[in-house]
Amino acid sequence: MRRTIDFNQDWIFERPGQEPCPVTLPHTWNAEDGQDGGNDYWRGTALYAKTFPRPEFAPSERVFLSVDGAAMTADVFLNGRKLKHHEGGYSTFRTDITDALLNENELKIEVDNGVNDHVYPQKADFTFYGGIYRNVSLIITSGSHFELEKDGSNGIHVIPQLNLPSKDVQVVIRTWETGGKSVLLEIPTAYGKETLMADVSDGFTSNIMTLKNARLWNGLNDPYLYTVTATLLDENRQVLDTVSTRFGCRTFTMDPEKGFFLNGRPYPLRGVSRHQDRKGKGNALSYEDHQEDMAVIREIGANTVRLAHYQHAQEFYDLCDENGLIVWAEIPYITEHMPNGRENTLSQMRELVTQCANHPSIVCWGLSNEITAAGEVSGDLYENHRLLNELCHGMDPARPTVMAHAFMLEKESPLIPMADLASYNLYFGWYLGELEQNDRFFDEYHAMFPDRVIGFSEYGADANVKFHSSDPEKGDYSEEYQCVYHEHLLKMIEERPYLWATHVWNLFDFAADGRDEGGKKGENQKGLVEFDHRTKKDAFYLYKAAWSNEPFVHLCGKRYADRAEDSTEIKVYSNQASVTLYKDGEEIGTKEGKKVFTFRVPIEKEHVITAVSDKLRDEMTIVRVQEENPSYYIRKKAIVNWFDREDYDPTCYSIKDTMGALSQNSQTAAILSRMMERMTASRGDVAKSANNNENLKKMMAGLSLESLIKQAGDSVPQEMIRSLNNALQKIKK
Ligand code: GCU
Repeated sequence: MRRTIDFNQDWIFERPGQEPCPVTLPHTWNAEDGQDGGNDYWRGTALYAKTFPRPEFAPSERVFLSVDGAAMTADVFLNGRKLKHHEGGYSTFRTDITDALLNENELKIEVDNGVNDHVYPQKADFTFYGGIYRNVSLIITSGSHFELEKDGSNGIHVIPQLNLPSKDVQVVIRTWETGGKSVLLEIPTAYGKETLMADVSDGFTSNIMTLKNARLWNGLNDPYLYTVTATLLDENRQVLDTVSTRFGCRTFTMDPEKGFFLNGRPYPLRGVSRHQDRKGKGNALSYEDHQEDMAVIREIGANTVRLAHYQHAQEFYDLCDENGLIVWAEIPYITEHMPNGRENTLSQMRELVTQCANHPSIVCWGLSNEITAAGEVSGDLYENHRLLNELCHGMDPARPTVMAHAFMLEKESPLIPMADLASYNLYFGWYLGELEQNDRFFDEYHAMFPDRVIGFSEYGADANVKFHSSDPEKGDYSEEYQCVYHEHLLKMIEERPYLWATHVWNLFDFAADGRDEGGKKGENQKGLVEFDHRTKKDAFYLYKAAWSNEPFVHLCGKRYADRAEDSTEIKVYSNQASVTLYKDGEEIGTKEGKKVFTFRVPIEKEHVITAVSDKLRDEMTIVRVQEENPSYYIRKKAIVNWFDREDYDPTCYSIKDTMGALSQNSQTAAILSRMMERMTASRGDVAKSANNNENLKKMMAGLSLESLIKQAGDSVPQEMIRSLNNALQKIKK
């Protein structure tokens, strides 16, 4: 019978130039330097070694090494023999080590997260942690067993098929085995047990079992899971091996006009994205970390999660199944197409589908993310997508494919219809442009392509909970601007039910070692929760008010205690119908509404502010101060503010004019083009595409030069902006 041995203990880790040290898996060597900014975290080849006595097993049995995740490339050596080479840092791989075992063994796994031209990801906005950061185990099976080597398979694939309104489910079950005579399939049900015996033919069985009046897997409402157990038997009906997997019975569809349907009912997918890391630990997460993340997803009330930008741990997909989350799963084919990377995209996709297809939570396979961001679109990129799409449909006819497109991708691009579904990552109102451009973008797209299913795969704004403002604006990294941004976006989404799925980028701040901005190094701060996965930003509660049924009131601005104004805005997020506000115990007023309740409150000293709705209450202290607290602002805001105070001659051009208007006049166009050469945008990929992307040019024509300069922040010297404005002011309109 199959036994699994935990193999996480007693490893020696060795990295060039450093003393070997003992480690317990999961482990990453970038837990610290991958999160401290500067993009100088160590990427290279390191060694994990372990000695162990020959495990006990019968002569007819086999021993497999199973690695749940080694980033990014791994080579396995046992007693000097190379047994496996695996490329891809996010999937399980296994290898048969039986024939190389001695009485005393030395196992070495060389792991590499260095730069190369063919293993994805190589270019993206997150840290590429190196290490064996998931569990390792030994699996001992009989000589004849269910497949467990090919693409990290578990040897069993379950496809429940149902045609509502009938709840009778045809469960297609395929198994793969290396020997044996027959397979006994068993599914416990409310009324007993469904069983079926099948003969193994060419190492394969394929059968259909029927579940009468099945209990459906019904998202958050009732994520009911069945378990099928497959037992491999020999000619004498002796048990050789057993595997089991859970599955869920559900139907889903995506409608271009009405959005997502689960089990025949409208079920608008509204949720968040997640990366697999956290402060101090990198990606070497424990099961408790996964559980904590899931608790936060449940608290906010999301019904969907995009598990970006690669395959996540099986434990997490399991939690999604158990909690009724709808999942978007994807491979790390991201940012830039690599001509030598085709085989790697295909193998990562084969592994993702093989290892994850039984999870009822997953509804789509993501082929790529912003793959045109670096600007080069070649025939090879199209061919790569065609092959990936074909691979997914061949392996799994039950799920559609999807891509997450960069905002500058032309709506007419032939890339879009290559997947079944399309979604866009838009950052209008953060990196570029105004909030309303998000609304217009989708309205235009939907009007142009009313028969296409379109979704919103990413949107977000960075916020550092240290920064605060009574006058929040794009680029100030304040907790308050993040609220303004999401209030707009949430409303925009609610008004567009055709969006098949929407995902906030991101639920948690995450490591992006290349970043140094917004008062922090090495972090993307678009999370609704900080990188500790505990500190919830105010915007978290906006979504909780929209999505969660758990009654609450939340006072925004608790960290914004010092207020340099005579009257201040107090904002409350709640899912209750009315909220009453008190100052030092005195009633300020009661507001009726939905989600957002704002009050204007005169202040003169320290005050205790209380928000109350029935038995729910939240409290904070704020203080009237004379000067703005300097720790609430990043330098950038103080500097760019001079634009707003300057006098302009309205009969002449200035930086207040749009890029479109400035490019119409030959004199101002010449000034503009000189400026563009010198200006570096805060995102290299945007800057690179700006020159050769028509869509981006169109979008930029509507932006004022001032807003573009503000966006670029400190990278544009103040003197240059003044002289630019002076030059424009000399040209009559
Ligand atoms: C992209 C990308 C993310 C990235 C995000 C951002 O669109 O898909 O990986 O983190 O933008 O800039 O925050």
